Amino acid sequence: MNNTVVITGSVSGIGLSASKQFLSNGWNVMMADFNGSLGEQVYQELSKQYTPERVAFQQCDVSSTESVDNLAQATHRAFDHVDSVINNAGIFAKGAVHELDESTWDRVMATDVKSIFLTTKAFVPEMMERKSGTIVNTSSISGLQGDYNMAVYNAAKGAVVNLVRAMALDYGAYGIRVNNVNPGPTLTPMFNSNPQSVIDEFTQASPLGRLVHPEDIARTMYFLASDESSPITGENIPVSAGFEI
Ligand code: NAI
Repeated sequence: MNNTVVITGSVSGIGLSASKQFLSNGWNVMMADFNGSLGEQVYQELSKQYTPERVAFQQCDVSSTESVDNLAQATHRAFDHVDSVINNAGIFAKGAVHELDESTWDRVMATDVKSIFLTTKAFVPEMMERKSGTIVNTSSISGLQGDYNMAVYNAAKGAVVNLVRAMALDYGAYGIRVNNVNPGPTLTPMFNSNPQSVIDEFTQASPLGRLVHPEDIARTMYFLASDESSPITGENIPVSAGFEI
């Protein structure tokens, strides 16, 4: 029986690369994303490229309980069981605390942090029953350090940095491993929306003189989800081109 992974924020950037990475390695992939129209398009493309029975798409808002519960039901209709959940959907907002409005604060915290609470409640009980599973969250190097004008993003990704430790402790006895990948500046639509001058500055700030590619993160996610990383749990793994050291 194939392994199955649920990947949120899966139709763009890092999540899309991760979907391809797992499909290439023979896993079933339940793609979940807020963007339903792009999702349908990506789903059509991937089901032509890979075995159609191994890929499914569900429109989902990871910050909504109802939507995440619908995702769990759709996953169980499409596939037998879930081996791994990749909590990758995330949004970014600029600004110091006094510049942020309350709705922006709530939206970022709900998308980047509460989402992990909701998907865990939806998928972890069956993993506990099967005494097996992995969860991989996309935090950020912005969860490990402070950045200028990124207060809510720092708060959200920092919350994920410590949440992973709590989850690893609580679920370790059930054979469930929980880890974070902490990307540095990664060439995705989210990052590419910066002006070229900013992208150049970021590139120069890396000791390797390069930025991260979505595929670099996808390979690390696959490693953390698979048995290859069996002794690793509760960790934050920067994939950053040395940007934060
Ligand atoms: P992206 O913007 O290319 O992809 C994010 C995906 O999440 C999109 O497909 C979007 O529709 C989806 N999404 C947004 N809100 C959602 C919601 N409420 N429910 C379901 N799906 C939703 O961004 P990228 O760069 O691929 O980001 C993926 C993750 O990596 C995010 O958590 C981001 O914070 C994190 N990250 C990205 C970095 C970068 O430089 N690109 C650096 C560090 C972390």
